[in-house]
This record gives sequence, C-alpha cells and structure tokens, in this order.
Amino acid sequence: MAYRNLREFIERLEAAGELVRVSTPVSAELEITEITDRISKQPHHRNKALLFERVEGSEFPLVINLFGNPRRAAMAFEVGDLDELNVRLSRLIDLRLPRGLGPMLSRAGDVFGALRSIGLGPKMIRSAPVQEVVITENPDVHLMPVLKCWPHDGGRYLTLTQVITRDPATGIRNVGMYRIQVYDGQTLGLHWQRHKGGREHQQSGVEAGRTKIPVAVVLGGDPASIWAASAPLPPNIDEYLLAGWLRGRPVEFVKCVSQDLEVPAHAEFVIEGWFDPNEHRLEGPFGDHTGFYTPRDLFPVMHVTAITHRRNAIYPTTIVGKPPMEDVWMGKATERLFLPLMKLFMGEIRDVNMPPEGVFHNLVLVSIRKRFPGHAQKIMYGLWGLGLMMLAKAIVVVDEDVDVQNVEAVAQRILETVDWRRDVTIVDGPVDQLDHSAILDSFGGKIGVDATRKPERAPFPDPVPVNEVVMSAAFSNWRCWRDAVVIVGLNKARCTPEEAVRIVWDIAPDKDVLLLDAGVDFSNLSDVAWRVLGNVDWRRDVILQRGMFDPYDMRPDVPRTRIAIDATTKGPEDGHPRGWPEELAMSPEVVERVTARWSEYGLGNL
Ligand SMILES: Cc1cc2nc3c(=O)[nH]c(=O)nc-3n(C[C@H](O)[C@H](O)[C@H](O)COP(=O)(O)O)c2cc1C
Repeated sequence: MAYRNLREFIERLEAAGELVRVSTPVSAELEITEITDRISKQPHHRNKALLFERVEGSEFPLVINLFGNPRRAAMAFEVGDLDELNVRLSRLIDLRLPRGLGPMLSRAGDVFGALRSIGLGPKMIRSAPVQEVVITENPDVHLMPVLKCWPHDGGRYLTLTQVITRDPATGIRNVGMYRIQVYDGQTLGLHWQRHKGGREHQQSGVEAGRTKIPVAVVLGGDPASIWAASAPLPPNIDEYLLAGWLRGRPVEFVKCVSQDLEVPAHAEFVIEGWFDPNEHRLEGPFGDHTGFYTPRDLFPVMHVTAITHRRNAIYPTTIVGKPPMEDVWMGKATERLFLPLMKLFMGEIRDVNMPPEGVFHNLVLVSIRKRFPGHAQKIMYGLWGLGLMMLAKAIVVVDEDVDVQNVEAVAQRILETVDWRRDVTIVDGPVDQLDHSAILDSFGGKIGVDATRKPERAPFPDPVPVNEVVMSAAFSNWRCWRDAVVIVGLNKARCTPEEAVRIVWDIAPDKDVLLLDAGVDFSNLSDVAWRVLGNVDWRRDVILQRGMFDPYDMRPDVPRTRIAIDATTKGPEDGHPRGWPEELAMSPEVVERVTARWSEYGLGNL
C-alpha cells in the first residue's frame, strides 16, 4: 500500500527497526550533523534514520537519514531491493514500447506518456493536510529547526527540498532538490546550479521579461515524491509522474494559498514565494556532497509570501559531506531506475555503477556486450550526450563478464587491460558546477577508459617488483598497490609533481603513479579513490609515459604506456586559477560535545 505521507513512512521504518527516536534536546547547529555523520558511516545494520524529537529553538521534530542505507531506500519505494526499480521500469518499457515505436529520442517521452495514460499523472484535491496551518502574515522560516550543517557554512540551509517552479514560457512544472539558504525569515537563496531545471525556468523568465516568478519549497510528502525531486529527468517531464508510477498512485496536489502554483497536498511544510530572475545574492559557503565547501557564488533570491504546514508537522532534512552519506542511497535509486532508460538508447549496456567515492558525477562504471573495436568509445560519447550524464567526469567501460558493482573487479580488469595511451579518451566539456578541480567554472577535462579486452594485442608482461630500498631513499611516504600502482605522498615544497613522476619511472618504469598530498592516509583506499576522482582535472593532471608515442601505432607488441595522476591540492602555481576549497571537518568542540553526550542520545555504542 503506497505511503500517503512522510509519517506513514516513518511509522514503517520504526516498526522495521530502521528508525531511532532521540528524545534528549539537541542543537540544530552542528550537533545533529555530527551525530548523523557518525551514524551514516556505520555498517548498514547500525545505520538508522533518526527522529530528533526535541530540537532547541523549534517546536517541530526533525527527521534525517531517511534513505540512508539500502534497506531504507528500498522501503521508500516499497521494493525488496533497489534493483527491482530497474526490473520494473525495464518491464514497463518492454510492455509499452514495442520495438520500432517512434524515433529513438522520443522513446523516453513515450514511457512517461504511457504512465500518464494509465492514470498516474498528478491529481488535484481541494483541502490538504499541508494547509492545516496557514501563515500569510509575517511568515518566518525560523519556525522550522533548520540546520547549520558544517562549521564554515554561510548560514542555515533547508536541504531535503522539493523546489517547484513552472516554466514562464510553457507552464511546464519542474521540481528539483536544491539546497535553500536562509538569509532571514522571509528571504532565501535558491541554489539551482546552471545545468538544472530551476535555472532553465529562471532563464526563461528573463527572456519573457518576467519580474516575479512563483516558487514553492516543499518539505515532506511521500518518500517517492521526496526522492523524485533529485531525479535527473529530461526537461519537460514532470518528476511527480514518475513518483506516481513508483507509488502506484497519483501524487495529490493542492493550490498554493499565496501563489499561482500547486504543491503536494500531503507534505509537512510548504514555503510559498516568488523570485525575480534578475535578482541575485551571494549564496554559500556550504559543506557539500563533494566533501569540500562550495565557495560563495551568486544565485537567485526567494521572497517568502506564506508558510503552510500540518498541525504536528515533522521537519525532514539531510546532510551531505564526505561519502558515504544518505545521498549515496538516493543516488543508487536513481542509478537503478535510469539504467533501463540508458539501455533504451544504448542497448549494449549491461549494467552501470556510480560508486560513492565518485559522488555521482566523478565516476561511472559501465559494462557492455562488446562487438567491435571502439565500442567502448561509442558508449562514452553516448553517455556524455545523455541528459545530466554530460557531467560524468570519468567513464570506465568493461566487458559484460565484469560485475561493475564489484569495484575491485573493475580495478583488476583495468590493471589487466588498459594501455593508458591507446585506451584513453580525454575530452573537454561540461562538468558539475561543484567540481573544484576544473580549470574553469563548470568546464574541464574528462576521461573515458576502455577497459574491455582487446584480444588482438599481445599480453602485457608480468610486473617487476619495486626496488623498495631505492624507492624509500627517494620518497619518505609511498606504497605500491597490487604491484602495479605506486602511490606517493608529495611534499610539493621539496619536489614538483613532474620531478616525482620522473623519479618513480626511473626506478619503476612499469608502474602507474598516483600523487597525493603528503598527509593523506593511503591505507584507506576508499578515501584515496575519493580524492583522486575529486581533485583531478583529467586534461591538466595526467602525465602519460613516453610523450612522443604514436597513438595510432597499433602493432600488437607496442610497449604498454603508464599513467601518472596528480591528485594533490592545486594552486595558481599548478595552473589552477580558481582557488581550492577547504575540506569538510567538524569543529573539535562539537566532536567533543557529541562524544561526551553520546550515551544520552540512545544510539548504542559505535
Ligand atoms: C541531498 C541532495 C542535495 C542536492 N542539492 C542540490 C543543490 O543544492 N543544487 C543543485 O543544483 N542540485 C542539487 N542536487 C541535485 C539535484 O537534485 C538533481 O540534479 C536533480 O536532477 C535536479 O532536478 P532538475 O533536473 O529538475 O533540475 C541535490 C541532490 C541531492 C540528493
């Protein structure tokens, strides 16, 4: 039975032992982040949703980490396991779209047309629980327990949002999960990035000469609707239609009380208002899902005209930061659900994995049924042309016998098959606006790696063990991983990246090289992967062995080319003009306070 609202989901989580109530008073300023961050990093069975019943300064309870492990994410969609989403949508596509129906590019649209035709489109109702309390005089967002998430955040932020707008030109609705900065009780920052639907509506408003565009920030509702705001659907397709299909029941809407807009009727809170597409204000900094602070930048401003809420509303929120956090599992649901859509355009795709270390866009692992040389490259270019996949910074393609959900197996296959000169495609293009390594804002170097088998080539020679004595004489901080990759902690005051790479290749010419900042702990490979994927612009930060090598020399016995990747922090001296953001860390006082209070929270020993 579909959840009607957030509280039904909470009840079911609690009954399943997936939610813990915290009844001791807690602060919305950093304390909830520190508690939730610790819980998010626990094994799945200890990682719970948290309902904070008493948050200082607000009468409303706060719920967080709702989607934070695979079981809860599956429960949100009422499936046994997230891969069922892939199976269900594949079945719908097969059922509704006989082969040859319409041109390829309209097929995704046809899928959603099919959903509408079976009555799953949003439905209007007249009276709504979310309007039990209506505040139009001096509405003040501070009535909610809005979090300050990280110590250097520019203020408090609403995070688990559904931000609804209509395109001023076409009237088509968009909903996006965008963080909202609270400037004051009636003035908010709308952080829709430049590739997103809200931004497109803003632009459309500028072109139409509009000065007041309605916007609503919705908090709560059924979990499929909450998630749908984060779904990267093509523009002009209503995410609530997808939510309706996922629930098997249409999402019910009600008219706003102060704006010409409709909002989900069973939400907990709705903030109504308008924005002028030409008005901007500095937004940020914010501790982001990249694990770094995003710096301040100009974004539009929302002026609040009303707040409506349920009488006993529960405030839903999330925190983002170094993975894994709750958004990993929201992203996993997206990955599973979008797999059939990717297959619609590229039938040779078998599976896709976007591992947490890649924070969505930084790494896409794809398995394919390979049929011809260059097939992997065809997939890379296809994905880079597919909706928000355009932001994928690294795409690795393997044969279908590799399970891409097993990152170790993919890494092993890369070591076995990749010649870093012949099998690598480096391109420039759009990257996520949050990508701090790109030389320009939202534009940078990307990499495609063809790790499929190439039977026409001679096998690579066995690796030669590294001479540890010589390496240790050259570097104080290094290790060799799987006899294949030399990782060096680099002190750039003593040695440039180019010098370090030359030294390693003088000693161990058959190794790939990874340069990291001197203090990084190499024993945590997940952390190493997160740093490499986040800190590298794949055009600027890569050195290939034997620079004069002819990439079109396809003789089977051409020696293997090795790669060196500079994943250190960059400054202007490294050709990075934009400034480098600060890595997220909780303030020591809060860490100490939470440790001292831990037994009061009732969350067991970690
Ligand atoms: C927890 C969470 C927070 C997010 N915050 C933002 C944000 O502040 N700005 C943004 O542009 N995208 C953000 N995203 C990603 C968007 O929700 C996602 O790209 C979505 O597809 C946007 O909807 P749209 O395609 O309709 O624009 C966030 C995603 C999650 C899961």
